[in-house]
Amino acid sequence: MKPITILAFSGSLRQGSWNRLALEAMAALAPSHVSFAFADIGSLPHYDPALDGETPPESVVRLREAIAAADGLAFATPEYNYSISGVLKNAIDWASRPAYQSVLKGKPAAILSATPALTGGVRAQQHLKTILSATLTPVVQFPEVAIGLAPEKFREGALVDAKTREFLEGLLGALTASISHNSARN
Ligand SMILES: Cc1cc2nc3c(=O)[nH]c(=O)nc-3n(C[C@H](O)[C@H](O)[C@H](O)COP(=O)(O)O)c2cc1C
Repeated sequence: MKPITILAFSGSLRQGSWNRLALEAMAALAPSHVSFAFADIGSLPHYDPALDGETPPESVVRLREAIAAADGLAFATPEYNYSISGVLKNAIDWASRPAYQSVLKGKPAAILSATPALTGGVRAQQHLKTILSATLTPVVQFPEVAIGLAPEKFREGALVDAKTREFLEGLLGALTASISHNSARN
């Protein structure tokens, strides 16, 4: 099998973040030819067009290179006030330039959300889909993975809920299928 690399974005920087744990659970479910790396979005400055000239900040260059090198992306977003987190939006804004020709263009992406609330972060996911449509990033549409009541689904950092594991496996399968389809076309 051709190796596949996935760059994962946790929209939460919190130690013990449910979103980060969900991405780690997804990585642990991956078959041997699929490897995950985590994007470092916490060290990015606030987006400022004046910084985005010929020599952007080192952290931005690293992020753009990591996205360019990846075969696909996996975003996990918390829901902050019915939307995605500022830290994730900031990372996407940096990655999104130059507009319509950025490293995000055409890069297959899976999205998920996790929250202690019953609602699972579905509102944030809708916003994330809209944002990624602006960057021309094809998003896997099914299965939708919205992890509600997150604290009940993990124990000591590990995913223990069988149904959630099944959904994450399904999402990973859909992402790798989209990546294979994408690379067959290019
Ligand atoms: C500023 C802020 C706003 C929040 N707004 C929402 C919200 O709109 N919907 C929701 O389900 N949870 C909301 N929460 C709770 C988060 O879902 C919760 O903190 C969650 O654990 C964040 O994800 P993490 O565990 O990956 O850090 C909010 C939390 C913060 C700090």
